Amino acid sequence: MTAREWFIRAQNEGFAIGAFNVDNFEIFKAICLAGQKKRSPVMMEFSSGEAGYFGLKNIVDLVANARKQYGIPILLNLDHAKTVEDCMEALRLRLRSGDFAVDNSSTSEVKVPHTSEVSFVGFDDIHFDGSELSYEQNVENTKRVVAAAHAKNLLVEGELDKLSGSSEVHTEQIDLEILKKSYSDPLRAAKFVAETGVDIFASVFGNIHGTFPNQPDLDIELLKKIKEALPNTFLSLHGGSGIPAEQIREAIKVGRIVKVNVNTEIRQAFKDALNEKIGENPNEYTYYKLASDIVMAVTAVVEGKIDVFGSAGKI
Ligand code: 13P
Repeated sequence: MTAREWFIRAQNEGFAIGAFNVDNFEIFKAICLAGQKKRSPVMMEFSSGEAGYFGLKNIVDLVANARKQYGIPILLNLDHAKTVEDCMEALRLRLRSGDFAVDNSSTSEVKVPHTSEVSFVGFDDIHFDGSELSYEQNVENTKRVVAAAHAKNLLVEGELDKLSGSSEVHTEQIDLEILKKSYSDPLRAAKFVAETGVDIFASVFGNIHGTFPNQPDLDIELLKKIKEALPNTFLSLHGGSGIPAEQIREAIKVGRIVKVNVNTEIRQAFKDALNEKIGENPNEYTYYKLASDIVMAVTAVVEGKIDVFGSAGKI
């Protein structure tokens, strides 16, 4: 099934697919194991920093191998790409399966219809984040990404209202009044989607990157209005860490959210387990001997998210 088909199914059946950020190889393995244990599709996503660390080609190859090794649907997303060039680079790695050896340097070389019958390797979804640009520039750049991506049967996620915060464990308080000014306006969102043709809209209604001591509540009423304004567009929920499970479930139900992004809680589980193992084993110099418990700690967090998102047992 393609990413589009998975999101249609998610919307119809009332679940969301976890879009988990991959900071390192242990996290990568943990996401695969959690998807396999829960019989759930998963989306792997790489921010610019994470993609720079792994290398785009390595990412594509790792995911292609993992799809076979773990036997689960693994969708691949470039997360918060800030430049059109970064998006085009990822698009170049989207190939029909069997075309691995081709060094494809043109984004328009492989033209394919929207169909699940052709099988692909590479990215399934590109999130172009033009939220720091002027409205006009954001629309212009997003349209360029959409044209190139749709020619290769990829989905594009667009961002209009900047998601605040960063994927860290924050100790400072958020100014909730200032944050509310960044929430999505349903009519402006509908205009942006109509002008750009994005498939997924990154909605902002109380979600923020990272965890905070005064985590805001999701504005479910606003989400309802955003969904009414965008009946034919998939909605994503970024900043999935730190939000109580019942609020996430409500957002999936009311807003028919199909993709929930999670990074901070995964990074936190990894770092805590790493510190613990190193503390317990000061004389162990072989890292992989410590790694399996760390992978298990992260797997447990991802499994918990899959349960909340309702995607367990869907494969
Ligand atoms: P969190 O770090 O809050 O989980 O958000 C992740 C995210 O939205 C990545 O795009």
